[in-house]
Parts: sequence; structure tokens; C-alpha cells
Amino acid sequence: MKGYGVTIAGVGQYAPPGILANKDFEKLVDTTDEWIVQRTGMKRRHIAADHEATSDIALPAARAALEAAGKLPADLDCVVVATATPDYPFPATACILASRLGLVGTPAFDVQVACSGFVYGLTAAAALVRSGVYKTVLLLGAETLSKITDYTDRTTCVLFGDGVGAVVLERSDADCFLGCNLGTDGSDVSALYLPVGGSRNPSGRKGMAGADRGAFIRMQGQSVFKLAVQQMVAATLSALDQAGLAPADVDFLIPHQANLRIIDATVKALKLPVERCVINIQEYGNTSSASIPMALAEAVADGRIKDGQVIVFAAFGGGLSWGAVVWRWKGARARIATQPAAVAKATA
Ligand SMILES: CC(C)(COP(=O)(O)OP(=O)(O)OC[C@H]1O[C@@H](n2cnc3c(N)ncnc32)[C@H](O)[C@@H]1OP(=O)(O)O)[C@@H](O)C(=O)NCCC(=O)NCCS
Repeated sequence: MKGYGVTIAGVGQYAPPGILANKDFEKLVDTTDEWIVQRTGMKRRHIAADHEATSDIALPAARAALEAAGKLPADLDCVVVATATPDYPFPATACILASRLGLVGTPAFDVQVACSGFVYGLTAAAALVRSGVYKTVLLLGAETLSKITDYTDRTTCVLFGDGVGAVVLERSDADCFLGCNLGTDGSDVSALYLPVGGSRNPSGRKGMAGADRGAFIRMQGQSVFKLAVQQMVAATLSALDQAGLAPADVDFLIPHQANLRIIDATVKALKLPVERCVINIQEYGNTSSASIPMALAEAVADGRIKDGQVIVFAAFGGGLSWGAVVWRWKGARARIATQPAAVAKATA
């Protein structure tokens, strides 16, 4: 098959205006602002309204990315949503979003690899463009983690927030996808999972003990922490190797924003100056598959990321899963949306 180049033509971001600050958690669980800042680096998270689902907060980010790319929804050949918090187990949130963008007949699908969703989605969407299947693809990392967070569990509730990042990928003469490395280890799902709602523990099963609490994220924080650093470093080195590059060639690392200590340890292991790492965890907490494109949008919008620079996107998360993509930046704009979309009439 003939090969084509791919570039990111525009970036969008949207975070809902509701805020949960560290001090707010002091009223919910036995914690302190000081503990949260020292152990995670987080200060605030944006939280969707009760009536908002993932597609509702994805819409303004999608429109922002299209505007930044100078495109209309009709220019899209495909819509891909990376999410661990879809509107429903099915249909795919991408189908709902495509419809909200006014598209009928356009292919749309979700990618579900928890917090690694954006790097997996970017690899898949870029492959669709590079192989010539599609010319223009909208990819989002979109999450409403507040909907599956147990606000009585101090070991998880302080960590997660809601938000969306979006990119428009398009065919290009220059190929900006320089390399990737993806991996999983599914031998122990209990390291990080949502116990109820799938076919193992259906939410409708009669008499299922603890079904209500099983509807929330469960995690073994310390084992995830260790794996996160090891695998983000290994994936980054492998992806750079595939690209024929070394850590010294990296202008910006954009890591998944799960814990500032994980980011610091990763940056240190790669021997990168911390200024070359995009960090916004203090404002959003862990937004799973949205964290990387949200950070990208901010670093492009404020001018840190410039034409020709080498960027590494690195993630890890439930699966367990991990991955890194090496990308050459090619002069795209970013737009941060501030207005929420009108919420769709509930259909179910
Ligand atoms: C969750 C995490 C922040 C906990 O930090 P930690 O330094 O590992 O803390 P520990 O789990 O060792 O807990 C230390 C103590 O703090 C307590 N603690 C946990 N959360 C707390 C909170 N919010 N406030 C106060 N104390 C808390 C624990 O109960 C424990 O108390 P104990 O010593 O009396 O048993 C950290 O392990 C982490 O970030 N892990 C990775 C998680 C992750 O990235 N998940 C998403 C992947 S995409």
C-alpha cells in the first residue's frame, strides 16, 4: 500500500467550569491540601455537571480543534474518541459525537485503553491516514472520570478530574509520525479497574453484593506507580529508537498527568530538563486519556511548542497499558474552548 504523511492540523481543549479544589476534599474525606499537593502535585480538578456526559464536554473541544485546523465537520472522514468513561457501554461515544457535529454516515469509533487511550488512538488514527484509508480524522481524549470516582475513598477520589483534548489529523507531504511503542500486561486487572458494568459483573445482575460501590474506580496505587515510571521510560526510549532519535533530541515530553512524582521520576530517568516537560496536573488532576491532548493544547496555545520540534507523548494506565509516540510538530494552532455546548436532550 502506498504510504502518506500525517500531521496534526489543529488542537482543541475544553474543561468544564466546575472546580473541586484540594480544600473541598477536606470536607469529604480524611485528607489535607498539604498531603494532596506533596504526594500528587494536584491542586484543582475540573468537574462536569451532573447532567453532562462525556459527549457533551467533547463537543466544544471538537469544535475548537476543527476551528484551529480551519476545517468544517464535513471535512472529516472519521471520528475517533479515546475514553474510559463513554456515555454508555454502547453505542460508541464517537457515534454520538459525530451526530452532534452534524455528521451522518461518517465512520466513528471509540478506543478504550484507559489512560493510554490517546497514544493508542493517535497510533491508530495516524495509521489510517498514513495508509491512505482516510485523509482527515478527528481524534479526542475525552473523560468524565468524576462519574466513576468514589468520593468516600481518599486513596482515589483526590486524583481524578474531567476534560477533553482533541486533534485533527490530516494527510500531509511531510510525515510527522516518527515512531511509537505500545504495550499491555493484563495479568492483574485489579491493579486498576472498574469492577462493575461489564460482562464479568453486569450492573443489572440480581443480588450482586456491593454493586453500587463496584461502579467506581479501584486501584492499587503503589504498584501502578512503579509500573508507570518503568514503562513510560521504556516506551519512550523504544519509540525514540524507532525514530532514530535519542532523549537529547526531544524538545518536549508530554506525559500522562497522573502524579507529579511519576512525571518527575520519568523526566529524571530520561535525563531531560524539567522545562522540557509539559505539566498541567495542578489544574486538572488525572483526566485519563484526555490529559495528553489537553496539555498539548495549552503548550501550543501559549507558544511553547514550535514548528519543527520533536515531541514525545507518553502514557500508562489501566490494562495495565502503556505507550509512547514520537511526533514532529508542524506549525498547527490550538484553541481552548470556554463555552460549554448546549446539552443534548437525554435519550435514555
Ligand atoms: C495513589 C498515590 C497518590 C498514593 O501515594 P503514596 O505516596 O503511594 O501513598 P500510599 O499509598 O503509600 O499511602 C500512604 C498513606 O497515605 C494514606 N493516604 C492515601 N490517600 C490519602 C489522602 N488522599 N489523604 C491522606 N492520606 C492518604 C494511605 O492510607 C496511607 O496511610 P497509612 O500509611 O496509614 O496506611 C500514589 O501511589 C499514586 O499516584 N499511584 C499511581 C496511581 C495512578 O497513577 N493511577 C492512575 C493511573 S492512570
